[in-house]
Amino acid sequence: MRTPRVHWDQSLQALAKGYAWLPDRRRRIDGDVVHTRVMGQRAVALCGPEAAQFFYDEKNVRRHTAIPGPVLSTLFGHGAVHTLDGDAHRQRKAFFLSLVTRESTASLVQCVAAAWEDTVVGWAPGREVVLFDEASRALTAGVRRWAGIPLETGEVAALAADLVAMVDGFATAGPRHWRARQARTRREAWLGSLVQDVRDGRAETPEGSALDVVARHRDADGELLDPRTAAVELLNVIRPTVAVCWFVAYAGHALHRWPQHREPLQAGGGFAVAFAHELRRFYPFAPFLGGRAARDLDLAGERVPAGSLVLLDLWGQNHDSRWWPDPYRFDPHRFLHREISPWELVPQGAGDPHTGHRCPGEPFTVAILAELCTRLAHRDYRVPEQDLTISLSRIPARPRSRFVLVPTSR
Ligand code: HEM
Repeated sequence: MRTPRVHWDQSLQALAKGYAWLPDRRRRIDGDVVHTRVMGQRAVALCGPEAAQFFYDEKNVRRHTAIPGPVLSTLFGHGAVHTLDGDAHRQRKAFFLSLVTRESTASLVQCVAAAWEDTVVGWAPGREVVLFDEASRALTAGVRRWAGIPLETGEVAALAADLVAMVDGFATAGPRHWRARQARTRREAWLGSLVQDVRDGRAETPEGSALDVVARHRDADGELLDPRTAAVELLNVIRPTVAVCWFVAYAGHALHRWPQHREPLQAGGGFAVAFAHELRRFYPFAPFLGGRAARDLDLAGERVPAGSLVLLDLWGQNHDSRWWPDPYRFDPHRFLHREISPWELVPQGAGDPHTGHRCPGEPFTVAILAELCTRLAHRDYRVPEQDLTISLSRIPARPRSRFVLVPTSR
């Protein structure tokens, strides 16, 4: 095993190249293991189903201290489930998994579909609407009702803007980042006091709702979550549900670029689910995951000291021709009539969500997308001139125009 060489810090390249950073590095070295430095730290980046299995084994990689502070202060929240390992992780994860059942997925989809219909009745023929923004508000209205969070109708737009800001600002140092921090501070304070009110009987929420369950959840130490951590985890349910608006905007983009999918999508069912999977594979959202080497690792003949950063390239794996023939072709048929292995399609992580950090919200994401994309495919609209560029150096990416459409009928 070789001892580590000095590697140049790549933080600026990572920021400049975004999703393409790791795939470019792999092409240059003609290998799967990239040894590098980021944020002043030794790092190694992996890609592929086998690498994912290695990464998700807690004997190799742990999550504690791997996520940078600015990402916690915006996207996930300090003390979030994403940062836990071992028993503490499994106990906290149980809260999320208990919320994602077949019945609760159906009821969330129903709430979101009703909110979507309330939104689209307001679309006047001939007047431009921005699909990303409209979807974010419909998702917010739907998920807050499902989660049992009391909110006046007039406050939905402000909550939607805050939830979108938290996602949009995690990987930049500019004004988007500061908006995200402010949004998080505001919403943690609001939801923390709501949790306290529910515990003290000053506020009501339906039994079994996400708000009720988080207020009663006990961590591995047997204690209730402190109100701020409860708010962090409640946000970790509603924020990513609203983030599905990124994929709804991408659906608008895909139907515009490849209109042949509109008719099969109108039938819903298996094709709509396949369409949702292909949206999640094809379009950029989560770039890579980060953990820390739990012990000294031997990777590609080089020693990676315990504590080094270990990255898993999600976007790279979803666009590698070894696993996806013709990966830059948008083709929902690749997901029709077949099972998907837990290590294959990784836009929301890999492996088993019960034992590892894989996203517990995939059933929500896929079901909501299948429903909203089917409904979108049924609407009559035209697509005006606009900038549909999706820059891979912007994390998270999105169509520059956020996808504008003009309804042509009610
Ligand atoms: C826009 C759609 C979504 C995307 C792209 C997405 C992506 C991801 C990714 C990449 C991870 C990290 C996996 C890992 O660290 O191994 C994750 C974790 C997580 N996601 Fe999602 N997610 C989405 C929707 C949702 C939804 C709807 C929920 C609601 C329950 C959710 C809740 C979570 C939670 C709680 C975690 C942390 C899991 C853990 O650390 O054990 N996500 N998600």
